[in-house]
Amino acid sequence: MPTETRHALITGAALGIGAAVARRLADDGWVLLLLDRNGEALEALADECRSRGATATTLYAELGPGEQWIPPLKAALDTLGHLDLLVNNAGVADENDPDDVAAWQRVLAINLDAPFRLGAICLPYLPDGSRIVNIASVLARAGKIRNTAYCASKHGLMGYTKALALDLALRSITVNAILPGWVDTPMLQRELGAQAAAVGAPVAQVLRNARRQIPLKRFVQVEEVANLVHYLASPVAAGITAQGIVVDGGYTCGM
Ligand SMILES: NC(=O)c1ccc[n+]([C@@H]2O[C@H](COP(=O)([O-])OP(=O)(O)OC[C@H]3O[C@@H](n4cnc5c(N)ncnc54)[C@H](O)[C@@H]3O)[C@@H](O)[C@H]2O)c1
Repeated sequence: MPTETRHALITGAALGIGAAVARRLADDGWVLLLLDRNGEALEALADECRSRGATATTLYAELGPGEQWIPPLKAALDTLGHLDLLVNNAGVADENDPDDVAAWQRVLAINLDAPFRLGAICLPYLPDGSRIVNIASVLARAGKIRNTAYCASKHGLMGYTKALALDLALRSITVNAILPGWVDTPMLQRELGAQAAAVGAPVAQVLRNARRQIPLKRFVQVEEVANLVHYLASPVAAGITAQGIVVDGGYTCGM
């Protein structure tokens, strides 16, 4: 990496995949700027990162259509000085009807517009050789019923990743996406819980059925996604850019 002390910004850091990425980098002594809209969980996670040896600053902010999160982010970046890694992880997986304009705008604002805005804001702070990792989804390559907004946002994030990688290649800044399948997080529990409620089935049965469809017969663990982010941020991954790397237990084999 370009500098001695490595600095990372992780969005959606309080829970799930973002929290696992924060823990993984904390174990390596990174300086962390952790952004989330869930203030209580964010503070708890930051305390845990500090106990693991990291320096952690929290930024309580709601990414989305407004711009109120931008000035505090710029102030935090000014304090940090530089950034070696931006992880665009915050995202929502709301279902929508094909004519639901409000849901479309909400999901696109968080899942696609915000990563673009974050990339633009962070660019002056990213030295040559730094990294951007966007957490997309296997739904960056496939469709899903009642998910036009989510699928479009993740397809868009993949396109953004490839194009930005070309824009930044001459500065040796790599830009990659991770495409997880089902990862065991609060998001998964919410989604499969809602499916169970919709069909009147026990949640445990819906979870079991979902696991059966995955060749490895288990959900991906958050640490497995975090390890991939850690790898992409490491010096040995300097030659990987403009890629979408799938971690899904074999779920999309053949897609
Ligand atoms: N869990 C999965 O199965 C799965 C699969 C594929 C892709 N992903 C993607 O991985 C990323 C993380 O998912 P997860 O499962 O950890 O989700 P999660 O819901 O468990 O956690 C998401 C975190 O992001 C925060 N967040 C959400 N919207 C925000 C906003 N507008 N502003 C600030 N913070 C916000 C939440 O407060 C939460 O802490 C998302 O982009 C998601 O689309 C998840």
